[in-house]
Amino acid sequence: MLTRAYQHSLNGSHLPSGRPLLEVDHISLFFGGVTALKDVAFTVTEGHVHAVIGPNGAGKSSLLNCISGLYHPQEGQIRLHTADAPHEDGTHGKVHTHALTSLPPHRIARLGVARSFQNIELFSHLTVLDNLMLGRHIHMRHSVLTSMLWFGPARRQEIAHRQLVEEVIDLLQLQAFRNKPVGSLAYGIQKRVELGRALCLQPALLLLDEPMAGMNAEEKEDMARYVLDVHELAGVSVVLIEHDMNVVMDISDRVSVLDFGKLIADGTPDEVKADPAVIEAYLGAEEEDDEVKEALRRQTRHVEEEHRG
Ligand SMILES: Nc1ncnc2c1ncn2[C@@H]1O[C@H](COP(=O)(O)OP(=O)(O)OP(=O)(O)O)[C@@H](O)[C@H]1O
Ligand SMILES: [Mg+2]
Repeated sequence: MLTRAYQHSLNGSHLPSGRPLLEVDHISLFFGGVTALKDVAFTVTEGHVHAVIGPNGAGKSSLLNCISGLYHPQEGQIRLHTADAPHEDGTHGKVHTHALTSLPPHRIARLGVARSFQNIELFSHLTVLDNLMLGRHIHMRHSVLTSMLWFGPARRQEIAHRQLVEEVIDLLQLQAFRNKPVGSLAYGIQKRVELGRALCLQPALLLLDEPMAGMNAEEKEDMARYVLDVHELAGVSVVLIEHDMNVVMDISDRVSVLDFGKLIADGTPDEVKADPAVIEAYLGAEEEDDEVKEALRRQTRHVEEEHRG
């Protein structure tokens, strides 16, 4: 357990815990004849880890792309609620509602929505520290050039940014790798750096697209713990996309399940686990996997026989 007191809040949201943070309001997204999302609606609550799960091609990444503004759904709305900083007497700041569906990605990022991608998108030749510092650029008032000159306000700014980045390094236990080029690190560590970069934005909402993809069981468990730390120690609200139902059940407050672009279940982990539609979607996917595996086995046997013959 971490005992150090952090100087910087990593949670960029001033909304009171338990309030609606993000409302996905009946969105549909089409690519030509393909329906990626159909009438999907659910609410993410401030302070929650909200998992979105579903089989391959269910529309999970498309949903995240709609929230972060890379895709624009043809139907429905997505609203983000933000609040001003609390008043001096402790009362909550004014709440603002933003229609994300009409904003470009950089404006949505400025509202505090940070994300990681399904494939690692880091600067592999730069060190962990530099990648995390770059994650701060959105908050930097002084340009990188004046920062390099290291004078006056730019210097103070640089020091404050550096402190925050060091706290992220501490939270995610990246100390041993801070000066290593990201490209030289194990895959699991790179994914953790990506989580760190998103966290350096002091997000109001953190979107994680399969942060555990391609990991072995131990790495997955590690990553799940870091996501939990981000939530419990840093207080950041998270939308977590995952393929593997078991991984998310332990760490999520709420789970939405997509299948073929439709929301087939939405509830607590226990409710969702017991839902017949969910069980069917996952069993169906497993049967399909088995069929593919069997076909591959047959093919391999065939090739081996040809070689022998
Ligand atoms: N840019 C695009 N152009 C055309 N079709 C797309 C595009 N993005 C997604 N799709 C389609 O939308 C559907 C949902 O895809 P999406 O990537 O959102 O699924 P996913 O749940 O993230 O799957 P995975 O588990 O494989 O990551 C798929 O049929 C996909 O082919
Ligand atoms: Mg995806």
